[in-house]
Amino acid sequence: MSWVKVCESSEVKDNSLQKFNIKGKDTLVGKRNGELFACDNSCPHRGASLHRGYFKDDNIVCYLHEYEFDIKSGKLVNMASWRKSNTWKEQNPAWRKSGDLILYDVEEKDGNIYVKIEDGNKQES
Ligand code: FES
Repeated sequence: MSWVKVCESSEVKDNSLQKFNIKGKDTLVGKRNGELFACDNSCPHRGASLHRGYFKDDNIVCYLHEYEFDIKSGKLVNMASWRKSNTWKEQNPAWRKSGDLILYDVEEKDGNIYVKIEDGNKQES
């Protein structure tokens, strides 16, 4: 694991979700009410790009099936979207299943944003 400079602090506005490529990983860096967070940009449900989602309180809501993940704990906290529309067919439980967000440590220092991320494939020697 190592800290990688992602961008200047001013590039991530408050209440925004932004996508970055960090060491080949599609990474989301967001700021909610002044607090930074970072995670894998791939939705743990079916892989949609989470930066296209939106906030609901302290949750990020995936645009595709509206699963909600807590941006502080990474936990899946709501998948009630399945029940709100009569037009959506009930899917089998295996398809609905989802893991939690993969969160990364993030910090702001000297006007820049850094994310701690796994190093790429290491060569065995
Ligand atoms: S892909 Fe994100 S909720 Fe289904």
